Amino acid sequence: EKVIFSGAQPTGSLTLGNYIGAIQNWKALENDYQCLYSIVDLHSLTIRHDPKEFRESCLSFLAQYLACGLDHKKNILFFQSHVRQHTELNWILGCNTYLGELNRMTQFKEKSERHKDNINSGLYTYPVLQAADILLYQTNLVPVGEDQRQHIELARDIAIRFNNAYGKTFQLPDIYVGKVGARIMSLQEPENKMSKSDENVNGTIFLLDSNDVIVKKMKRAVTDSENVVLYRDEQKGIKNLITIYSKLQNCSVQEVEEKYAGKGYGAFKTELAEIVVESLKPFKEKYQDYMTNPDYIIGVYKNGAERAAEIAEKTMQEVREKVGLV
Ligand code: TYM
Repeated sequence: EKVIFSGAQPTGSLTLGNYIGAIQNWKALENDYQCLYSIVDLHSLTIRHDPKEFRESCLSFLAQYLACGLDHKKNILFFQSHVRQHTELNWILGCNTYLGELNRMTQFKEKSERHKDNINSGLYTYPVLQAADILLYQTNLVPVGEDQRQHIELARDIAIRFNNAYGKTFQLPDIYVGKVGARIMSLQEPENKMSKSDENVNGTIFLLDSNDVIVKKMKRAVTDSENVVLYRDEQKGIKNLITIYSKLQNCSVQEVEEKYAGKGYGAFKTELAEIVVESLKPFKEKYQDYMTNPDYIIGVYKNGAERAAEIAEKTMQEVREKVGLV
């Protein structure tokens, strides 16, 4: 059976970008692959955080994964830090990664711009840990948003180098990005991606935002003066809103254009706000259920860690032997 691995960082709450760019695809693929969906808590330690808030955020994230409809029996849902092999492989892969490669990573450059007072080495070697996440499970496919492309390519390059040096050990992973929605943009600055760390919170819709807040953010979404609902590069704001509409309604962008031909932005935005609110309704209800049932959450992550560790250890045994550890 072919394997899928993907993950998200447990900081704050999932955004509409995470949901459309990644999790909708995770869900769509769960019947055809053995899927491992991780909460990559170790990656989040690269940013300063409050330990208590962070722990709560991690547990909330698992409830959010489940509330998105990810099936914990079909899929392996787990915390990265619970499977120690991730950090072990991280070291070995780090010894097979060049500084030049890490220097080219655009996310590192962006993040060190944003966190000038905390450019730590974890931030720098972040993509190596990500490569370990993926290669540990002999992953065939990695469903992510467009912003992760460079990291997945690096994972592939590291795997190729390792296989050439020590003999075939790792499966080469392919990236999977959706044709539409792989890059959901900020509602305020549609030239930048929607991000949970955006200082302007009006640019980002969080799945846990209240209905009122969602409606407000949608109404304020930056558009242009054309007042025609068309999917084209000149109208970045509207293009982004059409993308969101089509992904949540499971229809093509042409269908959205046709539906709103001759209507202005007002009607379009109002209806889109309703669609977002309606789409997130079941999510919010399920989220509340899971959050009031901590024992259930514990059961899910323990079981996930056990199943993940079993696969991870198989790979690690081979890796240790290949590099000559006694
Ligand atoms: P993270 O936590 O930033 O995002 C989780 C997933 O959501 C996608 N995404 C978006 N897609 C479309 N539009 C957006 N505006 C948008 N924002 C985020 C991301 O592409 C991602 O798929 N480094 C990763 C986590 C990670 C990982 C891995 C992913 C660690 N190890 C191994 C895949 C495989 C990250 O920070 O994602």
